[in-house]
Amino acid sequence: MKKKIIETCVEIYGFEELDTAKQLLIKKAKDQVLKAYAPYSGFHVGAAVELENGEIFAGSNQENSAYPSGLCAERVAMFFANAQYPDVAVKSLAIAAFTNGKFLEEPVTPCGSCRQVLLETEQRFEKEITILLYGTNHVFQIENVKQLLPLCFEKSSLKG
Ligand code: THU
Repeated sequence: MKKKIIETCVEIYGFEELDTAKQLLIKKAKDQVLKAYAPYSGFHVGAAVELENGEIFAGSNQENSAYPSGLCAERVAMFFANAQYPDVAVKSLAIAAFTNGKFLEEPVTPCGSCRQVLLETEQRFEKEITILLYGTNHVFQIENVKQLLPLCFEKSSLKG
């Protein structure tokens, strides 16, 4: 038996340590929680996507009484951005979450389905996406989506 250890690198920053472009993207994600439609979970998530051309698109989670029909903030923002600019790579993504009257203290992390979608976008444009996960205590920065989804199923997996 052999073992393979897989590591993920997470950089931990205070919000003020980040450059202004990253602070702005996080602010857009934070603003977006106000627009979430989350009557079932009460968990309000905002996501902001910055494209290589400088455009920023934001989204929030959209729930539904038929629960699986809803969509996470990350996918709303990412699909929105990719639908407007199908040929422009994504540079970075920021996520924030608000529940019980406050932002999460620890950084919010994307669900597995969102990681899969984010990975496809990263690979589609062959351009690493910087991920910024906001918490009031600190911000996690992850240099690409692949870090978040090791041993992934991807386009090349379909070839067998
Ligand atoms: N949610 C997101 O929008 N993004 C995440 O990263 C985690 C979960 C949403 C889905 C659902 O509307 C609510 O949060 C509770 O799971």
